[in-house]
Amino acid sequence: MKAVILAGGSGTRLYPTTKVINKHFLPIYNKPMIYYPLSLVMLLGIRDVLFIVNPQDLEDFKNLFSDGSHLGMRIDYKIQEKPNGLAEGLILAEDYLKGDKVLYLLGDNIFFGHDLVKILKDAMLEVETKGGAYVFGYYVKDPERFGIVEFDENGKVLSIEEKPKKPKSHYAVVGAYFFDENASQIARNVKPSDRGELEITSVLEEYLKREALKVKLLGRGFAWFDAGTHDSFLEAGEFVATIEKRTGLMIGCIEEIAYRNRWITKEELLELAKPLSKTDYGRYLEAIAEENP
Ligand code: DAU
Repeated sequence: MKAVILAGGSGTRLYPTTKVINKHFLPIYNKPMIYYPLSLVMLLGIRDVLFIVNPQDLEDFKNLFSDGSHLGMRIDYKIQEKPNGLAEGLILAEDYLKGDKVLYLLGDNIFFGHDLVKILKDAMLEVETKGGAYVFGYYVKDPERFGIVEFDENGKVLSIEEKPKKPKSHYAVVGAYFFDENASQIARNVKPSDRGELEITSVLEEYLKREALKVKLLGRGFAWFDAGTHDSFLEAGEFVATIEKRTGLMIGCIEEIAYRNRWITKEELLELAKPLSKTDYGRYLEAIAEENP
């Protein structure tokens, strides 16, 4: 399984800030937003990642992550010329995937919860062995903002709609999708929606039609943020700060995960910590290295 992280888009909902800076570089508390989806990939043990980025942001992404070798990973980049929609990323990733299955992540989505990694690993295994698509639903107050999934009384999925004016449920499809090797092909047949985008929900609808879509609901024990609006951005930052201060452990610390995964050595971790030594982040990395030989 490979991972693709979507980090393009226009970010207009965070204007004026994102007129000059890509939102994925903005800090959610103490680290860039994009660290959070990348950390999820790493927690699942996936080492191959493709970032889909805007042309003007490519150099910045390369400055941040280079080829990923400092994390024991292989990181690649693909330019999306225009924000034509989430499904386009699957088309752009086709050559990269070379028929592999994929964890497809939205760069502005942040997840936290007990057993999250186990649940995602189970989904990953299911798609790896049985194929199809596997996605997650999360109860939201404002279903007009999301892709919404409708169920019958037996939990069978009836429909999926993007930003419905009259939502049929309160369950949003979150921005972490597992797809089998058919996803790029399906995405190529998607027609632009009324708002002119190639919607990821259209890809999901096709999997639903083929009876190859599985949806699991994430319950109250999970926190999920789509940090793409001013309020959700702030809430996500406050949430991360609260949890980190309370537990003394970081969320989304990619260097720590690389070390705990044994993808980098203690010496390499300390090397990564050096330029950050004046920050709590750097001191945290040093402590992780000392406490976990
Ligand atoms: O957050 C979950 C929701 O994400 C889902 O429930 C929706 O079904 C899905 O369409 C998406 O809705 P959003 O309106 O929140 O998507 P947004 O435009 O914010 O883009 C999501 C991420 O993808 C964001 O990190 C930017 C990136 N992106 C977006 C577009 C449109 C790209 O890389 N390329 C694009 O063309």
